[in-house]
Amino acid sequence: MEELTPTTAFRIADLAARQDEAVRIAEKRAIDRQHAKGKLTARERIGLLLDPGSFVELDQFARHRCTEFGMADNRPWGDGIVTGHGTVDGRQVCVFSQDFSVFGGSMGEVSGEKVLKVMDLALSLGCPVVGINDSGGARIQEGVVSLAYYAELGRRTAHASGVVPQISMIMGPCAGGAVYAPAMTDFTVMVEDTAHMFVTGPDVVHAVTGERVTAQELGGAAVQSEIAGNAHHRAASEEDAIGWVQTLLAYLPSNNLDPAPEYADDTSPAVTPADLELDRLVPDSPHQTYDMAVLIARLVDDGEFTEVHDAFAPNIICAFGRIEGRSVGIVANQPRHQAGVLDIDASEKAARFVRFCDAFSIPLLTLADVPGYLPGTGQERGGIIRRGAKLIYAYSEATVPKVTVVVRKAYGGGYAVMGSKHLGADANLAWPTAEIAVMGAEGAVEVLYRRELAALPPEQRAAARRRFTDEYRKRHGGPYLAAERGYVDQVVTPSQTRLHVARALRALRTKRQSLPAKKHGNIPL
Ligand code: HXC
Repeated sequence: MEELTPTTAFRIADLAARQDEAVRIAEKRAIDRQHAKGKLTARERIGLLLDPGSFVELDQFARHRCTEFGMADNRPWGDGIVTGHGTVDGRQVCVFSQDFSVFGGSMGEVSGEKVLKVMDLALSLGCPVVGINDSGGARIQEGVVSLAYYAELGRRTAHASGVVPQISMIMGPCAGGAVYAPAMTDFTVMVEDTAHMFVTGPDVVHAVTGERVTAQELGGAAVQSEIAGNAHHRAASEEDAIGWVQTLLAYLPSNNLDPAPEYADDTSPAVTPADLELDRLVPDSPHQTYDMAVLIARLVDDGEFTEVHDAFAPNIICAFGRIEGRSVGIVANQPRHQAGVLDIDASEKAARFVRFCDAFSIPLLTLADVPGYLPGTGQERGGIIRRGAKLIYAYSEATVPKVTVVVRKAYGGGYAVMGSKHLGADANLAWPTAEIAVMGAEGAVEVLYRRELAALPPEQRAAARRRFTDEYRKRHGGPYLAAERGYVDQVVTPSQTRLHVARALRALRTKRQSLPAKKHGNIPL
């Protein structure tokens, strides 16, 4: 008997049936499973991230080819991951979103192929990649093949680093070697309670070390954002995480060749009453503190800025803001936390941020109030020499416009590293309250006048110490020795800082600088 050729109508109905199975039916099951765990589905997350109706799904009908462990009879469409592209605020992004309701969102050969394909697409389009992670890791049934795809993902992530922004959202488990691809991306956000990241889970920890610990204690959002520093933001909910990523994307260029988006600039060209408040920001006593965030808010458009790593090493602030409508990366010591000292965590946090900004041509604004590097065995044994050097390295190799304002203390190594002229800053401003010196007056007097002080009768020492300290402060406690040598270009009235910084960044828009050609440098890792 002659075989009937399916009609066009049949074929269209068949497509609709397959789509129904791949999306509607699968989504119903996913909703049941995910919502029960307090999580959204892979598609719901994409729906919230992208502009409505903009998502173009790829490889909806991809299916695994594994026949092990009874897998041949269970071949769901999509293979546990949703991939594609769409827009965020009208700008193109590529996205992959692991579907925990299918094989625990685990990555095998086909889901791996889908991720690599969408990353390759992002590289050829020149657009950011957002990866939404909710997965049991390498698909156990597929063995070494799944490991191969994780390694491939690591390689792609490294190759895309510095070419397109890469953002990871951790919205469920992210365990084992699966943590390394997100760790290599530029920014990672984790959701409180439902997300965790660790190289070895609680069971393995207990088996190997005897320690009993919960998943949250081991690698929950609080631990990763405050202590380990693997997460740049801890979100209260999935919606909050998505909102943070949308805000972040608005500061970033789509790739390393395009400029960051520019916004309307309605800032005042004259000193405003808000600017005048800066004349009272720095307290008279060097022992009193103030909030550096206030200064940042006064300098950026609309007082708006977005911190990355806000809970980690809070003694330094890394944030994106806009000045005259253009993105700027801000690195600022925060005197409210440990007097704004530089320690290992602060150095690494800021170094990575500086390198990101440089890779994507975002100018750097540094606000210095730093008593130096943190002393102590903990820091020395923890490798502050090697790890603190990262920040010097990062500033030195950054060729983007660099503007620095010394607000108050700039002591010792802290002076040198926080965007000093000697590391290649283009415009160095200082407030009259700046104290640029090898160390603070009290410490300097103890070293310089040790013998004189020891020779005095004890009752005279306090007065002498005060006299020496005052003398030192007069001579070395201000910005003028540095200004004499041109290390500081201008000493400015605080209330005029916004205008000076904006003018400097405007002048620097045409800056071009190249460093000696090489394969790559060797930053102390
Ligand atoms: C295949 C997996 C899976 C995996 C989970 N599932 N992980 N399937 N491969 N890696 C499946 C489960 O069998 C289950 O299927 C469903 O996903 C949901 O899992 P549950 O265990 O019921 O969920 P939950 O209680 O929430 O626990 C989540 C979990 C746990 C903590 C992630 O599933 C887990 O420990 N999985 C294994 C994690 C792991 O060791 N992965 C390998 C990491 S090494 P059913 O059919 O019952 O719904 C790695 C190497 C990368 O990733 C290499 C990089 C270079």
